[in-house]
Amino acid sequence: MNIGIESLSFYTSRYYLDLKTLARARTVDVDKYYLGIGQEKMAIPPPGEDVITMSANAACQALKKIDYGKIAGLLFATESGIDQSKAGGIYVHRLLELPKNCRVFELKQACYSGTAGLQLAVAMIARHPEKKILVVAADVARYAMAGSGEATQGAGAVAMIISAEPKLIAIEPEAGYYVEDVMDFWRPNYLQEALVDGKYSIRVYLKALAESWHHYCQVSGRTFSDFYRFCYHLPFTRMAEKAHHHLVKLTGNESLAELTLTQFRDSLSYNRIIGNSYTASLYLGLASLLEHAAEDLTGKRIGFFSYGSGCMGEFFSGIVQQDYKNYLFTETHRNILNDRTELTYQDYENFYNFVYPTDGGDHKFPEYETGMFRLVGIKEHKRIYERKV
Ligand code: CAA
Repeated sequence: MNIGIESLSFYTSRYYLDLKTLARARTVDVDKYYLGIGQEKMAIPPPGEDVITMSANAACQALKKIDYGKIAGLLFATESGIDQSKAGGIYVHRLLELPKNCRVFELKQACYSGTAGLQLAVAMIARHPEKKILVVAADVARYAMAGSGEATQGAGAVAMIISAEPKLIAIEPEAGYYVEDVMDFWRPNYLQEALVDGKYSIRVYLKALAESWHHYCQVSGRTFSDFYRFCYHLPFTRMAEKAHHHLVKLTGNESLAELTLTQFRDSLSYNRIIGNSYTASLYLGLASLLEHAAEDLTGKRIGFFSYGSGCMGEFFSGIVQQDYKNYLFTETHRNILNDRTELTYQDYENFYNFVYPTDGGDHKFPEYETGMFRLVGIKEHKRIYERKV
């Protein structure tokens, strides 16, 4: 039985900051961002947009051709959750009017937990192949203003339907994983911005890749030449280049320099203009690959590397399914990206500095473009969400 991704869609903020605007404000050469980091634009959520509204928007699209009655679980992966106790997925479940007999919970391990959700969903479907599981990965990547991570912010949600009818990609059973207790990127409960040791985080990412790859090779018996394309966790797109070169070197394939660029290039397009979306970023990369690759990927093996600081790494693989192109939401995704509003530097500061009140009072938020769902206000410490249409 094949189990994998039947449907995949994403959503991001309708507002973005071009990094040339940020470069001007920080008196930095724009090529440091455009070329050195490989990022061009970053999605910035307005007041009233959070991981719940972005997830509901992404999931609504992913569920378009799916029988709601078959959804038996909603696994919600995030690093920027809105509550220490209640799972964000419960709000999403209500907004989408999913079945009552549904397992809903939240997963956390920095940027890795979307993959934890995917693998758990695959196991759940192995037990009940007639059901489907909705996995949502959503995050707002937020660093200190004017800090080194600032240009690698972003926001987005990816929703995936996992089932025994994997119309896009079948996930193979073998996986290699690696865990180590390190402090490369973290966010204490009392902070709104992540803390990061940037250069160290890159080194740990590469170490986790090597360790996960070795484990994957041990359990699968496969080698580098068994793969056609690779998707990496993308905190910024140049990271994929660093990761792939590391893997190529590790596997003794340095002579294939030109070929190796094409092995990951198509996976970068969306992330380059959305920015980091933590848990969602690897799967945004997959959407980008499937929706940009000029050639037919049917039957090809894709390698995935998922990384969550702290740290947890996993290398796994999947096979692209026949007729996958008929099940993509390419046009919707391109429309979302093309219809965005560019922010001025001052708008960016205003959105960044908007703080949700914590006094327990009755607060309404200004209305911005947030798709079909909106965080209308907060009353008695309870977030109030609305479906607009
Ligand atoms: N033209 C072209 N390139 C330029 C340039 C210019 N004018 N100026 C600088 N560059 C190049 C540099 O040479 C450098 O290239 P290399 O990486 O090839 O050396 C690149 O631009 C970046 O320059 P710096 O190293 O000087 O940049 P920095 O120190 O200011 O910050 C960063 C880079 C550490 C990635 C920082 O953005 C950061 O801290 N980001 C957040 C942490 C992060 O994303 N870590 C990734 C691994 S952790 C993870 O994956 C989890 C997660 O999602 C956070």
